[in-house]
Amino acid sequence: MIDAYSIPVTKVERSKLNDIPLENIPFGKYFTDHMLEADYENGEWKNAEIKPYQPLLLSPSLAALHYGQAIFEGIKAYRNEAGDAFIFRPYDNYKRFNISAARMQMPAVPEDLFIEGMRQLIALDKNWIPAKADHSLYIRPFMFSSDEVIGVKASDTYKFMIILSPTGPYYSAPMRIYVEEKYTRAAPGGIGFAKAAGNYGASMLVTAEAKKKGYDQVLWTDAVEHKYVQEIGTMNVFFVSGKKIITPDLEAGTILAGVTRDSAITILKDMGYTIEERPLNIDEVIELYKAGKLDEVFGTGTAATISPIRELRYKDFVMTFNVDEWKAAPEMKRRLTDIREGRAADPYEWLFKI
Ligand SMILES: Cc1ncc(COP(=O)(O)O)c(C=O)c1O
Repeated sequence: MIDAYSIPVTKVERSKLNDIPLENIPFGKYFTDHMLEADYENGEWKNAEIKPYQPLLLSPSLAALHYGQAIFEGIKAYRNEAGDAFIFRPYDNYKRFNISAARMQMPAVPEDLFIEGMRQLIALDKNWIPAKADHSLYIRPFMFSSDEVIGVKASDTYKFMIILSPTGPYYSAPMRIYVEEKYTRAAPGGIGFAKAAGNYGASMLVTAEAKKKGYDQVLWTDAVEHKYVQEIGTMNVFFVSGKKIITPDLEAGTILAGVTRDSAITILKDMGYTIEERPLNIDEVIELYKAGKLDEVFGTGTAATISPIRELRYKDFVMTFNVDEWKAAPEMKRRLTDIREGRAADPYEWLFKI
C-alpha cells in the first residue's frame, strides 16, 4: 500500500519556470517541473514518486501501445488574487477516472494516490499556476497498461501518472458545428462514458472530414438512428429555448458525464432555468429553430468552459445564431468562472484547497 503522505520527492535542480512566459500560453504545450508516477504490480500500487518531468523509457511491446488500455482525466487548478491555489471538483474526476478504469478492465487508483498525490504535486509546482484571469493549471492524470508482451489480454501491470500544464485564456470563438450522421462515436454497451484514449483516436478522421467541409467540430448523433444528439468533440451540449434548457441524458452510457455539464446544470437551475435531461431528436431541434424558439446552443467542457455555437448544420439545413444577443450561456459562464477563479463565493463547495 502507498502512504500518500510519504510520497518521495526528487526536486529539479533548476526550475524551467523562468524560461516560459506565463501569459497567453497555448493549451497543452508546456509542462511544469515535476510529475507523479506510480506502478501497479502484483495486485497493488507501489513505487509512487514525484520527480522531475522527464521522458519515459518504454518497451516496443508495451501493451497500451497495441491494445489501448489507456485512460485519462482533465482537471484545472486556479490561483486567486490572494495567491491561494484551488483545484476545481477533483473528486468528481477521481470518481470518473475509476469508472473509466473499471470499463477498461484496469485497476482502481486509490483516493490517496489520485487526490493527495495531485495535491502534493501541485503544491510543489504552485508557482506554475498563472494568477491571472482566464489562466489556470491544466492537470492531466492518466493510466496505461504496461505489460511488455504481445497478446490480447488485460495487462497485469499499469502505470499511473499526473502531469501539469499551465494554460492561458482558451479563446473559444463561436463554433460552426456539423451534425454527424455517417460516423458513430459510441454505441450502447460501448465505452462512450469512459475517458478512454481510443474514443479520441476514433474521432480524428471524423473531425478532419468536418474541418474539410469548413466546420470546427461534429455534433455526434446516436449509433442506431443517427437522430438523437449526443456531444461535441470534448464537450457536452445544451439547447436553450426560453426558460427551458435541454441537454442529452446520460442513461445510454454513450456520453461522457462532464463535470462542467453538471456545474452548468447546477448554476442554470439557480438562475431560474428548467433543465430537461432527456433524449433529444435533431428533428425537435429543427422544429424549435423554425418556430423561432431556439435561442442558444453551447458546449461545456473543462478546457474551453463554455463554447457558443454560431452555426449548426444538419444535412442541408443550416441554423445560425446571433451569439451577441445571448443571455443564459454568458451569464452562466461568468458565474462559473468567478467561482473557479475565486472572485465569487463557492456556494456549491466545488473548490479544493491545495
Ligand atoms: C468526450 C467528452 N465529452 C465531454 C467532456 C466534458 O467533460 P468535462 O466537463 O468533465 O471536462 C469531455 C472533456 O473531458 C470529453 O472528452
